[in-house]
Amino acid sequence: MADFRALPCAPIIHNMALLKILNYPDKRLNKVAKPVAAVDDRIRQLVADMAETMYAAPGVGLAATQVDAHERVIVIDISDAHDELLVFINPEIVWSSETKKEWEEGCLSVPGIYDFVERPEKVRVKALNEKGETFEIDCDGLLAVCIQHEMDHLAGHVFVEYLSTLKQTRIRGKMKKLEKAL
Ligand code: NI
Repeated sequence: MADFRALPCAPIIHNMALLKILNYPDKRLNKVAKPVAAVDDRIRQLVADMAETMYAAPGVGLAATQVDAHERVIVIDISDAHDELLVFINPEIVWSSETKKEWEEGCLSVPGIYDFVERPEKVRVKALNEKGETFEIDCDGLLAVCIQHEMDHLAGHVFVEYLSTLKQTRIRGKMKKLEKAL
């Protein structure tokens, strides 16, 4: 295992733990996450654990659904130095551009699989941060792709669902082989 302690994540709480990431096609990835009722220490601990899990993977985004916690919590860090953690609690897309863009996406729950998905090029997202404060952020580029991908997870969807039935069948076959190899 990599020495994740060397990674400069943004520790909110010092006792962090790596969480197990569910792999597609685990049915728990299809659960719909519930809104967070109160941004309290329990949620801040989940955020800290999710951030540590994302940095260790390594990945640029993680939704609570992927660690079998079915509440509307997302962590994202698209910075090169892994030092710009973004926390989205109860995120909502309040505006989407009509222009769309295709990006090659990957997912920590579908290791080794990358494919193209078309989504709105820009979105504005309203959410709460880990202090429970409301904020709005305009997202484009990779951040726009990432937040939409992670919000799909909260709704119980994995990006491979955008691909053809044939590709989805092939991916499920690859995932089965991977599970057996572990
Ligand atoms: Ni994903």
